[in-house]
Formats: sequence, structure tokens, C-alpha cells
Amino acid sequence: MIQPARHLTGETTVPGDKSISHRAVMFGALAEGQTRITGFLPGADCLSTVQCMRQLGVTIDQLSPTELIVHGVGLHGLKEPEDVLDAGNSGTTTRLLLGILAGQPFHITLTGDASIRRRPMGRVTEPLREMGAVIDGRENGRLAPLSIRGSRLSALRYDSPVASAQVKSAVLLAGLSAEGGSAVREPKPSRDHTERMLLAFGVDVRTTDDGYITVPPGSTLRATDVDVPGDISSAAFLLAAAAILPGSDLIIRNVGINPTRTGILDALREMGAEIDLQNERTSGGEPVADLRVRGRELRGITIGGSLIPRLIDEIPVLAVVATQAAGVTEIRDAEELKVKESNRIATTAAELRKFGAVVEELLDGLRITGRTRLRGGAEIETYHDHRIAMAMSVAGLVADGATTICDWESVDVSFPGFGDLLASFDKQTT
Ligand code: S3P
Repeated sequence: MIQPARHLTGETTVPGDKSISHRAVMFGALAEGQTRITGFLPGADCLSTVQCMRQLGVTIDQLSPTELIVHGVGLHGLKEPEDVLDAGNSGTTTRLLLGILAGQPFHITLTGDASIRRRPMGRVTEPLREMGAVIDGRENGRLAPLSIRGSRLSALRYDSPVASAQVKSAVLLAGLSAEGGSAVREPKPSRDHTERMLLAFGVDVRTTDDGYITVPPGSTLRATDVDVPGDISSAAFLLAAAAILPGSDLIIRNVGINPTRTGILDALREMGAEIDLQNERTSGGEPVADLRVRGRELRGITIGGSLIPRLIDEIPVLAVVATQAAGVTEIRDAEELKVKESNRIATTAAELRKFGAVVEELLDGLRITGRTRLRGGAEIETYHDHRIAMAMSVAGLVADGATTICDWESVDVSFPGFGDLLASFDKQTT
């Protein structure tokens, strides 16, 4: 149950970055030597990656919820698992593992929950097959469960039709064990954590003048410690809440501000929110800062193009902010939302309407007209999608009565403790 709040003040932190936590475990496993990970996100998605890597014969010591030691086995040290690998709700686990396993000399079957089994895997299995991977699965390998009989891979120069870090990463990871150098180019830049972290692990990743990202074959990954910064996609819920609650003044410490992820800061600022970056620094090849946000009058904006991959996971909560901004907000070029944990164009619109928001579904996005006073009493369905659960909780903070969020557990996918954190603000502020 979410109660309305007056404003958010004080200081807080958010859990570790999901994308970076997955990669730290996977690359640590493929490296020579021990990788110590601090600031790890103990969310369900990243724990799925830990479990899969353990089944592949990697020893991972969990010293605390956020601190892990991964005992690397090297690029050729993984073992055939005795059972099916289960990625749970995690697209990153599924797609990056497909890239890693395509060139391993054994057989695996990989599946996940109902959402994963609906999500498109052809975008990864097709380029991997072009490299020589032997993959089968439902709909001719476009849907999980998928099986891979690892084989010798040849190099691929791939022009991806989608701006997807998961597709890019899968091809680059398969490229590590291919014969010859592989390269990927995407229509718009997606998050570049794979490139940055492979570099930190000693792989000579480059970007060519014509935009291909390349990896040399047969590189050795050398273990290195990874300190995971706070996840800007989790911080986004707090930034949004503070932005729409006038009088808020909140500092979120130690948040990753990789430029491929900061579209939410650009969008909120353009709407009129005041966001300052403090203590900017670099940690493990990733830029980090403390974010200070203050609630202000907001206005509607139009976004699209190359901003979209830079805030793709933040669109549900941005739509909530748009209900509190004067005028029309239009989000275009975001058809990728349809293939996330839920169809986020449809689910965001359906759930926001329960608050009385004025939302129109577009083929490639959403049009929201504000400012609307949101109604209390909404009973929110989350579709087992963590970001829908949290975005609608933020809407609940500005509603004029209590909001019920059904199947709340999905927030554990990326933000364990989110409910307690929101409740602590309520106590401070109402
Ligand atoms: C992710 C990439 C994005 C993002 C997802 C995490 C990653 O997906 O939506 O939450 O860690 O690489 P796509 O690559 O499919 O856009």
C-alpha cells in the first residue's frame, strides 16, 4: 500500500547497478584470477546470473549481500551444467549467456520465467547462428527455452537492426572465442558497460571510425576488482518522486552517470527539474556522482531519437512525471518498450489511467497530457514487471489517497528494499 507523501528530503543511496553487476559476475567467471565485486546488486536478476555461473562450474563466494569473490576459470574453463539453466526474469542473463556459451564445447538448455519465454531471442540467436552457433528452441530458436550445442565460431561483422546492449554484448562475448576479430555496429548507441568492463579486464576493445565496436579473438580476461556504483535506473524512481513533489530536496549518493544511461537527467531537466551533480569521480572505468534533485514546476516535453536508448528503462516513471507536468509530453521512437519485461507502452498506459491520468498509446511510445490530479484508491497490476511496480508507486505518492500495488515482490528484481525506503521518506515528510 502506497500512501501519499508531501515531499522527499535528506540523503540516501540506491542498490548497485544491475547491468554492471551482471557483467562483473560473468566477466569475473571468464577471467584468469579472482575478481572481488563490491556494491553488487543482490536483486533477483543478478542472483540468477550467479546461480547460472555456479552451474557452469564457477566458484562464487558471497561474503555479504553486496560483496562477492568470483574465482575465474578462464575463457575455456566453464563446464557443462548437469541441469537446465534458469535466467528467471532476466533478459541480460539470458542474452549475454547465449553469447558466452555459443562457443563453449558442450550442451546447455536455457530458460526463464513466463516473461522471458515471451521475449524475442532471435535478435541474439540469429547473429550467433551466423557465427556458426548451433542453437535450437521454440519458434526455430526465437523463443526460450533454447538449447545450444557449442561449436567453433567464425568471426562476424554485424550491423544490428536494434540499439540493444544485450545484442551487442552477446556478439562481442561470442567474438572472444571466435576465429578472427568480430565487430558490431548499432543504429544508435546503447549502454556501453560491456565495452568499458572488457577493457578493465584487459581486452583490447576498440571503436572504428565507421562505428564498429571490435574485439580481438582469443583475448585473455585478467581478473580485476569491480566496485559497482548505484543504479541510475533505480535512482530514477527517487529523482522522479522528488521532481513531482514540490519542496523536495534529496541527495542520492554514489550513482553511476555513464553518459549512455543519463537520458533521464536530461529529460527531467528539460521538464524543469533542478538536478545537480556533486563529487563527480570515476570508479572502475565508470563515471559516478552524487545527485541532488529539487522539486520545481514541470512542463511537458517531446523526446525521441538517440535519447531513447539512454533512458529506455526509465520511460514508465517518466510517464508518471509527465502526468504532473503542464502540457503535453510525447515519447516517440520507443517501440522497444513493447519487448521489455512487459509491453511497457500498454502496461504504463493501462495502469496510469487507473489514477485518472490522460494517456494515449502510440505505436512507438506514449502521449501524456498534464497536469492531472491523480486519484487515490487505484489497484495496480504490475504484470510481474519491477519497473511498472515502482513507477506506479511513485504515482501513488502524489495521488490523493492510498494506492494498492498487487504482487509487490517483483521490485526485488532490481531494487530490494524499495518499499522500506519509500516508507522511510513518508515518515520523515508527512
Ligand atoms: C540491459 C540492456 C537494456 C536494458 C536492460 C539491461 C543490459 O536492454 O533495457 O534493462 O544490461 O545490457 P536492451 O539491450 O534489450 O535494450
